[in-house]
Amino acid sequence: MDVLKSLASAPSVEHYHLLLLIGALVSIVLYPYLGFLLGTSYLSNRFNRKGRKERNALYLRLAKNLAEIALVNKTVPTVFALLPALSLLFVYAQLLQSTASLAVSFAGFGFIALLAAVILLYAYKYTFQLGDFLEGYKEVLQSTKKPGDGLSSLQEYSDSNERLHLLFGQYGVVLTVVAAFFVASAFVVASNPVNWEHIDSIFSLFLSFDVYVRFLQFLALSAGATGFGVLFFTFSWNRTEEEPGEAYAALVRTLSMRLITGSLLTLPVLLLLGYFLLPGESLSGVLFGIAGLSLGFLLLAAQFVYTYERGKEPHHAASALYVFGCAAALLSVNDQVALYNATKGQAAYLSYRHETEIEELKSKLGVSGVVLTGEDIFNAKCSACHAVDQKKVGPAYKDVVPKYVGRKEQMMAFVLNPIKINPAFPPMPGQGLKPAEADSIVSYLLRKLGPADTKGAAPGQTAPKK
Ligand code: HEC
Repeated sequence: MDVLKSLASAPSVEHYHLLLLIGALVSIVLYPYLGFLLGTSYLSNRFNRKGRKERNALYLRLAKNLAEIALVNKTVPTVFALLPALSLLFVYAQLLQSTASLAVSFAGFGFIALLAAVILLYAYKYTFQLGDFLEGYKEVLQSTKKPGDGLSSLQEYSDSNERLHLLFGQYGVVLTVVAAFFVASAFVVASNPVNWEHIDSIFSLFLSFDVYVRFLQFLALSAGATGFGVLFFTFSWNRTEEEPGEAYAALVRTLSMRLITGSLLTLPVLLLLGYFLLPGESLSGVLFGIAGLSLGFLLLAAQFVYTYERGKEPHHAASALYVFGCAAALLSVNDQVALYNATKGQAAYLSYRHETEIEELKSKLGVSGVVLTGEDIFNAKCSACHAVDQKKVGPAYKDVVPKYVGRKEQMMAFVLNPIKINPAFPPMPGQGLKPAEADSIVSYLLRKLGPADTKGAAPGQTAPKK
């Protein structure tokens, strides 16, 4: 998957923001849908086996409906799962190019597993229908006067269909879990710069606590999406169908309520734990604001479910699902905010590379514009507040520049986007430099004050006092 990273070209700042936006939009649909797919297919398998063993028609009916909800037609999984997972892969490849991060590979594994899972779950759904059809045919044959050989070969066929059917279901669920795990890992590895270096193989991934917390978060979301979704699709969606019937309705209600309660109790705790594990640079006020808002939505969803339980009004089940969907959407947006916070430095570096690439292209084409020298920029933009050897509004360069020797990128990142450093000074205002300009002023200062030149420079001007 690293090929993708090397194919990507450095994005400009606008392009970078666009990438984050695409990431946010696709994860808003991907996570809840993937959770719903996992929940419904897992439960469908469970009720299917249980129903067959206990010859319980109600369980089988539930299993069949669950197998169909998330995969009604081919468009739904394509639009809600496959395309988003693929887009996420490309977003990571662009954002994390030239880093060591394995997020792109993990997102790639996730996509492949998801593709296989969707195919298997489709086969599971079709063999379910085929099984029903074969049963019906068997009954017809049995009721005729002389069933003959037809019946035994039919029996054989339907047995093998059932064996395959159960296998498809089982492996479909396993692969969905694998896909979800890798999608979760890709995010964990992308949103924390420490993990870019730290998680350097699948093994270190399995040893990382963060990944498990994230995966548990996903499972809690999945339980919620399944509970709210099943409630909605059984009682509120498509009311023209026949009434579900008392016993069936009760079964669905108990199941959904359990899922919803489990989800609403665990999700907030796991979310807090997740924020706690993010590094300082990935956190921000916006992040906590959105998190608070999504907790509010979760509470509201709980309230709607409670009202639904009491009055059994279908539209309350619908509102509960919508509100839960809003909470889930906000959580996905939050992921993107964390990713934005984590990749800010990376973005500054990439947009610098973008500009140099463009400059190179321009000079190749002979349309190169005038580039200001470091000295020009110093005189125009910095000299008001800085001098080499005396303190003005900002610190003397001889006191601050030497610490950046060998760390040119960090110095560029500071000049492009100053942060508060020394409490003895006011914060430095942003200078609105282009990355290429920041490059020249920083190179100029480092040349002037770096170790190689200090001896040769005019006395009193540059020799740093220790
Ligand atoms: C309006 C005043 C002002 C201007 C203009 C200004 N700076 Fe600063 N600069 C400051 C202040 C104040 C600080 C101390 C900030 C702090 O420590 O939080 C500072 C700190 C710095 C530092 C030290 C950072 C560190 O790690 O301690 C560097 C390097 C720097 N400025 C470079 C520049 C360059 C290059 C320019 C011109 C493009 C520039 N500054 C323009 C006010 C200014």
